[in-house]
Amino acid sequence: MTSAEVPAHVAIIMDGNGRWAESRGLPRSKGHEMGEKALFDVVEGALEKGIRYLSVYAFSTENWSRPEEEVDFLLGFNRKLLRQRRDDMNERGVRIRRIGRREPVPDEVLDEFTAAEEATANNTRMDLMVCFNYGGRAELEDAAARGSIPEHLYAPDLPDVDLLIRTSGEKRLSNFLLWQSAYAELYFTETLWPYFDRHALWAALEDYAARHRRFGSL
Ligand code: IPE
Ligand code: IPE
Ligand code: MG
Repeated sequence: MTSAEVPAHVAIIMDGNGRWAESRGLPRSKGHEMGEKALFDVVEGALEKGIRYLSVYAFSTENWSRPEEEVDFLLGFNRKLLRQRRDDMNERGVRIRRIGRREPVPDEVLDEFTAAEEATANNTRMDLMVCFNYGGRAELEDAAARGSIPEHLYAPDLPDVDLLIRTSGEKRLSNFLLWQSAYAELYFTETLWPYFDRHALWAALEDYAARHRRFGSL
């Protein structure tokens, strides 16, 4: 793969944690824990290939409708891993950035994001966009309320998504990066997220490299 064929912005809907756990008779939370290991491997695989922006869907505006126990787990879990992984990310030149609505995310979770953002603010190798309490419609509503949409997206400097990956066999956007994915190449795989790793990412990159993007032209 030549560098010209490497997408600048890869977005991932990390789906299938619950099914991975249920298929093993484990609580859903174990699936989320395994999913974090997959994400860390994917971050390293993305760095190896020179991907500049990696956006990951960690918690959607719709995920509040899950049972309270799971919502609480996900809030605490994300808070914990931001603290645990902050230094690993910093060592690798990764800048962590949260995008999403603040309300009703608890302050202690937002504070952990802020600490991770501040610790990694000067890194330029890759931006890891953690989409948390993120919804594409909420983002567009919030932007439109403030004026021109592209100027008021949560991260106006974020380029369009080149490659959008969704795991677990579901073939839908689930309200992810609606504006930014207008011309994204879509890649769906049956692999459940906890089984995904850098090699699975590279397979998606190979698929992407063979595509012909036309953008409405010829
Ligand atoms: C994705 O896995 C992670 C989050 C939504 C936080 P799921 O929890 O949606 O797993 P499935 O789809 O139930 O298998
Ligand atoms: C999308 O997955 C959200 C995240 C991965 C965080 P979901 O599992 O919540 O999406 P649906 O409900 O299947 O559309
Ligand atoms: Mg799911």
